[in-house]
Formats: sequence, structure tokens, C-alpha cells
Amino acid sequence: MENPFYITGIVPESFFCDRKKETDWMVRTLENRAHVLLTSPRRMGKTQLIRHVFEQPSIKDNCYTFYTDIYPTTSLHEFVLFLSKEIYSVLVPKGKAALDTFLAALHSLAGSLGYDPFTNSPKFDIKLGDIHSPELTLEEIFGYLEHAGKPCIFAIDEFQQIAYYPEKNVEATLRAHIQKMNNCLFIFAGSNRHILENMFNSAAKPFYNSAEQTYLDRIPKDIYTQFARDQFAGAGRSITSGAVSLAYDLFEGHTYYVHNVLHNAFAYIDLDREVDEADIHNTLSDILEEKGHAFSSVMNQLNYQQKETLIAIAKEGKAGGVTSVSFVKKYALKSPSSVQYSISTLLEKQIITYENSGRTKLYSVSDRFLEKWINRLY
Ligand SMILES: Nc1ncnc2c1ncn2[C@@H]1O[C@H](COP(=O)(O)OP(=O)(O)OP(=O)(O)O)[C@@H](O)[C@H]1O
Ligand SMILES: [Mg+2]
Repeated sequence: MENPFYITGIVPESFFCDRKKETDWMVRTLENRAHVLLTSPRRMGKTQLIRHVFEQPSIKDNCYTFYTDIYPTTSLHEFVLFLSKEIYSVLVPKGKAALDTFLAALHSLAGSLGYDPFTNSPKFDIKLGDIHSPELTLEEIFGYLEHAGKPCIFAIDEFQQIAYYPEKNVEATLRAHIQKMNNCLFIFAGSNRHILENMFNSAAKPFYNSAEQTYLDRIPKDIYTQFARDQFAGAGRSITSGAVSLAYDLFEGHTYYVHNVLHNAFAYIDLDREVDEADIHNTLSDILEEKGHAFSSVMNQLNYQQKETLIAIAKEGKAGGVTSVSFVKKYALKSPSSVQYSISTLLEKQIITYENSGRTKLYSVSDRFLEKWINRLY
């Protein structure tokens, strides 16, 4: 029996939960020819939402849709590589004519992109070193998107990465291209709200005001509960609403974590028994135990003060005023300055994250399982 709670890969449409309003909004925005900026905390469901939007008939039937996650990239060279690779993979199954339009546009990479002379099958063999002038290749890519033969939508996930590229004026260059385009809309997505909102909301920045923005929140509890119970029922099984509600509340509805607990409950609990709240507690304990080893090694990378600070944040849940005397005292930390220092390391390692609440920053542990594990152990 297929597990309906997908925790890796693309969630198939029949196992996709809700996001109706968000989907409608995004489809409408794109139909009105505006670019989109989509932000949310990590693992809330941005990537799945984009994939789902691409499956909507009005988009699927009329447009070429591209999706690339540029999180691993650290230069314009790689950016160009990721974009071309995605276009290539989407076009190959569409047939020779579609692919040829792209190949003809990419003069600068003619040697590494085309057809194998022996087998005549399409080949993509671009190495970073082959991209001698990323600006030129970028221009060719955008030129292609402008004349692709169908409207295009390009989703660039983890878009904040471009802020770290060493090349000068990347934002301005991209913006200049995008502004001129009539045939391609962009969905910019990412979890670094701070960088992204700064990029799109400060008047001095090239991307200022260039996209309609939306912030993806949790799926409403009643809708998620109904979904989860329907999925169990669809497999001839059952789960109490109390159990779903508990899984939801344990993680404040944070999609991936709730989903992961239900995935495991579905996988490991006897088929003929209704899953109840005790099962959810046990499932969570099993998950934390299984992850214990990996979490221990995260802790081992940290020095004593970083560890202390992390534990304090985990205990607080959402920690504000972390360098105040009262916070330092409450958790018997060394000093405000040592906390400050530890926080910057923890942020850099992405072990913690923050959201702005008015003028204060609220810090929390990025991985909610790690947060729970720390709370049990310390
Ligand atoms: N609408 C949904 N229906 C079913 N499962 C979902 C849905 N949205 C998210 N999920 C679950 O949450 C997980 C994380 O979703 P996704 O990868 O889209 O989040 P994200 O916001 O892109 O995260 P990241 O910031 O880490 O890239 C998915 O793998 C899936 O298990
Ligand atoms: Mg994602």
C-alpha cells in the first residue's frame, strides 16, 4: 500500500493537500502577467505549491514551465548552468523541434549542447569551465525564453542565493533582462525572507516592486485534519481527529513535520487499528530516537557557549531579547556578548533561524525535530 504522506520528492496530485487559495491566487497573478515572490519558513511547502501550480490545466496546457533550485549555486556561472540544464530537461521530452529552438539560441555553448554525432540523441555536456561568458549565455537563455514558441513560466527557488554571488551587479543584470521580457514570467521563491524582502522592497534595489508577493503559512488545521483522515480512509484505515490534531499542534502546523509524523504513523502502526494520540507520541519518540545520532553530531560541532545558547533557544521555542540580561540570567548563560557571538555562528550554520516581530528578532531552532530532541535531552 502506497504511503499517502509523501515526505520526499514531488507529492503526487492525489496526495497533495489543500493550498487552494494560494494556488488560485498564484494562477490569477500569473494570468495577469505579474511576476511572483513566494516566501515562507523552510519546509512549509513552497516547492510543492509551485509544482502544484504548474499542474493546473490553464498553465500546464498553455505554457512551458521550468523549475530550478539554485541553493547549491555560488556564482553566475552555476546560475547559468542550472537554468540551461532545466530548460534542456523540460524540452527533450517535447521533441526535436522544441529542443532545436533552444539549441539554436545558445551559440555560446554550441560545443557542449546538441546531438551526439554517433547516436543522434540529445546531449547536455556543459561543464562550468565551458561557460566562458556567463553574461552572454544568460542573454541567450533569456532570448530563448522570449521566443520559445509558447509562454514560459520560470520558477527560481532559493533565489536569495544570487545575493551571495561574487560577480558585480547580478541583481541589476537579471532585472534588466526580466524587465524587457514579454513571454516569460518568473516565480522567485525562497526561505530567507530577510534577504528576499530587502531585495524586492527597498527602493534602491533593482528588483524593487517587480513582483507580487505572498507569504506561505501553515495549512489550516481543520483542512489538514480532514485531508489526513481521508487519506487513511482511502487506504481502508482510520485515525482519530484527536491524533491528527495532536500531530498538528506539536509542530504548530509546520507542514513537513506534521506530515512526517503521519507518514511514520501510517507506515508502522498495525493496519487494523485506529491510530490514536498515544500512537502519535510513540511515533514522534521513534523519529527522535532514529535521528539522535545525527543530532548528536550537530551538537558536537558546537563549542560550549554555542551549545548553551542553542539549548536556551530550544527551550524558549521562539526566543526574543536573547542578549538581554534577563534572558542571559534565565538560562545561566555566560554574557550577552557571548550569546551574540554564538547566535551568529548558529545562524551561519543554519541551525537556528529568525523572524522579525516588530523591532525584535525571534530566534528558533530551524529543525523542529532537533528542537524537540534538545528539549527531551537537556
Ligand atoms: N500541500 C502539501 N500536501 C502534502 N504535503 C505537503 C504539502 N506541502 C508540503 N508538504 C510536505 O512538506 C514537505 C516540504 O515541502 P516543500 O519542500 O515544498 O517545502 P519548502 O517550503 O520548499 O521547503 P524548503 O525551504 O526546505 O525548500 C514536502 O516534502 C511534503 O512532505
Ligand atoms: Mg523548497
